[in-house]
Amino acid sequence: MSAASTTDVVVDVTDLHKSFGDNHVLRGIDFSVRKGEVVCVIGASGSGKSTFLRCINLLEQPESGTVLVRGTDVTDRDCDIDGARRHIGMVFQQFNLFPHKRVLANCTIAQETVLRRKSAEAERIARENLDRVGLTEKVDQYPSQLSGGQQQRVAIARALSMEPQLMLFDEPTSALDPELVGEVLAVMRRLAEEGMTMIVVTHEMAFAREVADRVVFMDGGVIVEQGPPDQVIGDPQQERTREFLRRVLDPTHAD
Ligand SMILES: Nc1ncnc2c1ncn2[C@@H]1O[C@H](COP(=O)(O)OP(=O)(O)OP(=O)(O)O)[C@@H](O)[C@H]1O
Ligand SMILES: [Mg+2]
Repeated sequence: MSAASTTDVVVDVTDLHKSFGDNHVLRGIDFSVRKGEVVCVIGASGSGKSTFLRCINLLEQPESGTVLVRGTDVTDRDCDIDGARRHIGMVFQQFNLFPHKRVLANCTIAQETVLRRKSAEAERIARENLDRVGLTEKVDQYPSQLSGGQQQRVAIARALSMEPQLMLFDEPTSALDPELVGEVLAVMRRLAEEGMTMIVVTHEMAFAREVADRVVFMDGGVIVEQGPPDQVIGDPQQERTREFLRRVLDPTHAD
């Protein structure tokens, strides 16, 4: 990487390790993402994908290794973790909306409490982002009045309202009925086109192939292979990657 481009690095992970008890889940991950890059992370269940994402915004504390977010080491004990996290939006498989709050309030609370924005400004920004995900009409509804796809789009608007420099998505469409997956992927595709830096854990191979700048295949807590989607998905170099793709791309091989 050239000296000029290192200033564009949003996340830089070096030799990351994480265990739960004696389960050594992440076994030395080296990884970086540049501004505007869209990275899709694929791999079998239990390979450590969620743990890896959660270490980036310190929902999990790694045991060793460093995680630099825009140059700040978030694993450093003296680091302002809340400050660093503020730049990172996260969207989970389960939408985690407040059920007793309307859509608009779901998108303003963190702006007001974490960023200390005045309510009028928080509301304006929330409305802009709800508009961006196609939910202008739903601002006064409660989450239970929305479909799963709409709820997930609220979760995306809520994250965007914090104006993050990085968005993490952990299987954002896995809990959705098949007919609702497309609307969420469409919002994500648009975000990618607008230049958002994104790390997306997904089983949606067609999405990864089309939208990702880079695909990372994880297995057993390490990155086995990474590169452009046409290479990693279209022409994988490692046997472990080939075996995984055979299973996910051909349902007759599913276990
Ligand atoms: N909070 C936790 N406490 C204990 N073990 C955990 C915890 N979170 C994850 N693990 C373990 O870490 C391993 C990796 O889990 P992780 O959720 O990162 O995998 P994943 O690749 O995201 O899988 P999936 O595709 O099923 O979501 C698993 O063995 C899991 O049981
Ligand atoms: Mg997971």
